Amino acid sequence: MEIVRTKAEVREAVGRARADGKIVGFVPTLGGLHEGHLALIETSVRECDFTVVSIFVNPTQFGPDEDLDKYPRDLESDAAKCEAAGVDLIFAPSPEEMYDKTASTTVHVAHLTEGLCGAFRPGHFDGVTTVCCKLFGIAEPDRAYFGEKDYQQLVVIRRMVRDLDLPLEIVGVPTVRETDGLAMSTRNQYLTQEERRAAPRLYRALQAGAEAARAGASGNKAEEVVAAVLAKEPLFKAQYITAVDPDTLEPLEDRGAPMVIAAAAFLGRARLIDNIKVE
Ligand code: PAJ
Repeated sequence: MEIVRTKAEVREAVGRARADGKIVGFVPTLGGLHEGHLALIETSVRECDFTVVSIFVNPTQFGPDEDLDKYPRDLESDAAKCEAAGVDLIFAPSPEEMYDKTASTTVHVAHLTEGLCGAFRPGHFDGVTTVCCKLFGIAEPDRAYFGEKDYQQLVVIRRMVRDLDLPLEIVGVPTVRETDGLAMSTRNQYLTQEERRAAPRLYRALQAGAEAARAGASGNKAEEVVAAVLAKEPLFKAQYITAVDPDTLEPLEDRGAPMVIAAAAFLGRARLIDNIKVE
């Protein structure tokens, strides 16, 4: 496994793999790798001949009051996990390598980015789509792997790739959870012991909403069920609980499944997100 810092080195290494006729898989990450990231990486290693992982805490997707400075950074430990998983190349650029001072282009996906997390994190998805578009241009993968845990991000990236005719396939990977149901996240490290014990309630609340939806509840009703279960844990401060159409991300209101119920909630200083799909 090779670790490189520059775009030129990625192009060279991927160019060599392509010249050998290899299918290139790509997993973009912020680092702080856990089993959720590793599920994406393992899927790429299984499905492709050459797997590239980017590790870059992308400053443009963090808001001014968010955790950019505190975000866990441990390249050595991340690299060991990647190597064990069979990764071929890690791209770990500096912000200066990624962003030219004179850069003046932003990729903005309209509509899909307005609700859910987009409503509370202004500019976040522009940061995500712009960096992913750049990373796709640098690594030129055949496939890129994204987690369903960040459901809105997955839908937004799929739309960007379709709208801009980018020549790669986006593959969604199911959410990896702790045994108690908590979705794995780098931000779970911010939880105190007490908060960690309370954390699985978010998914339990979503499961209760999904059960109601499967029994015929509307989007609005399912949201109420989730809110009621979550409210039993006073440490949680819900930011949004919204049942949306799985493709358009439009709120369902009085319509029923198929739906994705997505939620964001603060637990201490950690902002947790999760979602559940009802076919
Ligand atoms: P990050 O939060 O590091 O996540 C990288 C990828 O891992 C994303 O596709 C995310 O959905 C996936 N992932 C995280 N936790 C997961 C879990 N528990 N189960 C399955 N997949 C999981 O998302 C980002 O980074 C950034 O926005 C990025 C796409 C890298 C752009 O900067």
